[in-house]
Amino acid sequence: MCGIVGYVGEKQAAPILLEGLAKLEYRGYDSAGIAVCNNGKISMTKAKGRLAVLSEKTAGGKSVLGNVGIGHTRWATHGEPSDMNSHPHLSQSGKFAVVHNGIIENYLELRAYLEGKGFKFLSETDTEVIAHLIEYYYKGDILETIIKLIGKLKGSYALGILCDECPDSFIAVRKDSPLIVGLGEGENFIASDVPAILSRTRKVYYLNDNEIVVVKKDDVKIYDLDKEEIHKEVSEVKWDIAAAEKGGYEHFMIKEIMEQPEAVRKTVAPRIQNGRVVFEELSLSEEYIKNINKIYVVACGSAYHVGVVGKYIFEKLTRIPVEVAIASEFRYCQPILDDKTLVIVISQSGETADTIAAMREVQKQGVKALAIVNVVGSSIAREADEVIYTWAGPEIAVATTKAYSTQLNIMCLAAMYFADILGRISEDEYKSMLEGLLALPEKIEKILENKDKIQHCASLYYNSKSVFFIGRSLDYAVALEGSLKLKEISYIHSEAYAAGELKHGTIALIEPGTLVVALCTVEELFEKMLSNIKEVKARGAVVLAIAIEGHTEIEKEADHVIYIPKNDKNILPSELVVPLQMFSYYVSSLKGLDIDKPRNLAKSVTVE
Ligand code: G6P
Repeated sequence: MCGIVGYVGEKQAAPILLEGLAKLEYRGYDSAGIAVCNNGKISMTKAKGRLAVLSEKTAGGKSVLGNVGIGHTRWATHGEPSDMNSHPHLSQSGKFAVVHNGIIENYLELRAYLEGKGFKFLSETDTEVIAHLIEYYYKGDILETIIKLIGKLKGSYALGILCDECPDSFIAVRKDSPLIVGLGEGENFIASDVPAILSRTRKVYYLNDNEIVVVKKDDVKIYDLDKEEIHKEVSEVKWDIAAAEKGGYEHFMIKEIMEQPEAVRKTVAPRIQNGRVVFEELSLSEEYIKNINKIYVVACGSAYHVGVVGKYIFEKLTRIPVEVAIASEFRYCQPILDDKTLVIVISQSGETADTIAAMREVQKQGVKALAIVNVVGSSIAREADEVIYTWAGPEIAVATTKAYSTQLNIMCLAAMYFADILGRISEDEYKSMLEGLLALPEKIEKILENKDKIQHCASLYYNSKSVFFIGRSLDYAVALEGSLKLKEISYIHSEAYAAGELKHGTIALIEPGTLVVALCTVEELFEKMLSNIKEVKARGAVVLAIAIEGHTEIEKEADHVIYIPKNDKNILPSELVVPLQMFSYYVSSLKGLDIDKPRNLAKSVTVE
C-alpha cells in the first residue's frame, strides 16, 4: 500500500526513482510523484493516474536534474487521488519534501496545531502534517528533528525525507510500515520492497521500527532514538531478477499462474526427506505439539481462504479444533488463548497491517505465533516465533496465485507433520498425501495445458453480471478463493456459497442465464453436488462444473465441464484452484481490464 523509493549516488536520480516506482506499482497506483534535490533546491513533480503519466511529464525522469531524490506511488487513504494529494509533500517553505506509506492517526490534531502556528495546508492528506512538523521543529539538526517528530506521530509510517540543507543525503525512518535500505557501489537506496532495487543491488538492511537512517552515496548510518548508531548485518537477497520481470508474458498474473508447478516443487520438495515430512526450520518440540488443544489460523484475503482449506485438513488429520479468523476481526473478538493454543498466521507479503497486529497481540499474551510467509525479511517473518517460508518467489500481480498455492502446500505438510507426531494419521493416508504432493507439479502442468478450454468458457461468460461459485467441504473452501479471484480482477459480482446452503435464500438470485461454477471434486459428496446443480439448472442457471477426470456423468447435468487430474483428496484443492485462477484471468483479459493492477486494490495492505 503505497510504494516508496529513494536514491543517492553519482547518477541522475529521477530515472532511477521512476524505474524503482515501476516495480512498486503493485502497492498502489492512483498517482505518483518524485522530489529531487539539485544545487540545494528541491524540485517536485507529481501526477494523478498511473506512473506512466508522471514518466511522460518528466521525459522518463530526464527533465529532472539532481543526484538525490525520493519517489512515491500512492494508494489513496486521506483525500482522493489528485495531483495535489499525491506525494511527495513539501513543507511550507519548500525546505523539506516527504514521502509516506502508512496512516498518521492523530493528523487532525497535528494539523490544527500547525494551522494555529500559521502553516497553510495544500492537500487533504495526513502526510502533509509530517512535512510541516519537520520544518516547525528543525533547528539545524535533522536527526534531532526526526526524533522529535517520531515522538509526536501516532499511527504507522515509512518515510523518505529530503532536506535542501543536506543536498548529499536523504533520511528515512519506519514504524509498522515496511522499508529497506539497498546498498550499492557509490550509490544507496531505500525502498518499500525488494523488487524496486533488485536490478541495482542485492545487499540490503531490513529496518526495524524507529530506526532512523541517513543515506549518503557512500555511507549509510542508522540511529536509534537516543542518537546512538546501530550496526546492522547486511542481508543478501536471493531472488532471481528474472523472477520479478514479466519475461515475455503479457501480465504478471498469467506468468505467476504458469510458475505454479515450479513454485510448488520448490516449496514441497525440500520438506520431504526419506518419505517423511521434515521442517528443519521449526523448533517446536514434540511435547509442545502434543500439548496443543486449539489452533487459530489468522490472515487476510486469499491467505484467509488458505486457512479455510487448512481447517478442513488439519481437523481431519490431527483432530485438533481449528478456528479460522480474519485478522482485522480476530484482534477485537477477545479470542480465548492459553499456552495450549497455537496461532498460525499466513501472509504472502509478511507486511499486512492487520495480520501483523493480530500476531503481536497473541504474542503479548505469551502465545506462540507460527508464520507461513513468502517474503524473506518481512515484518512477520522477523517477528514470528516460528517461520515457514513458501518458496513462491516474488509475486507481483495484485491478485495472488502462486503464493496461495504454496501456502496450501505448507498447510498440508504441516497437518501431516503434526498428525504424525500425534500418531493420528495412518501410514496409508500419509503415503497417499506425500505422493499427491510430489505429483502435484505435473498435475498442475496438465491443467495449465487445458488453457484453450478454460479460455473458451471465459469467452462465453465474460459479460456476466453475477456469478456464483458453489461447492461442499473442501470444494466450498476453494470456491471462496475462486469467487474472490473473479471479482477482484474482472469486477463481476460473485459469491461463493456452500452448495447445500444456497437454497436458504441466495438461490432467489439465480435467474435465466446466471453462471454457476459448481466445484465437484469431493468424491463422497459428488452425488449431492449433482442434486445442487439440478436445483440451479431448474431455475435457469448455466453451469460450469469442475470435476475429477473420469466423472463423466457430470456432463449430463452441467453445460460445460473442466476436468482436473485425480489426486489424494486433501491435495485436490491445490489443483482445483488453478482453473479458477485461469478462468478469472481470461475473463478479465477479454474485458480489456488492467489485470495486474485492478482498480481500488493494492497488493500489500499496510494500513488497517
Ligand atoms: C491483499 C491482496 C490479496 C492478499 C491479501 C493478504 O488484499 O490483494 O491477494 O491475499 O492482501 O495479503 P498477504 O500479503 O498478507 O498475504
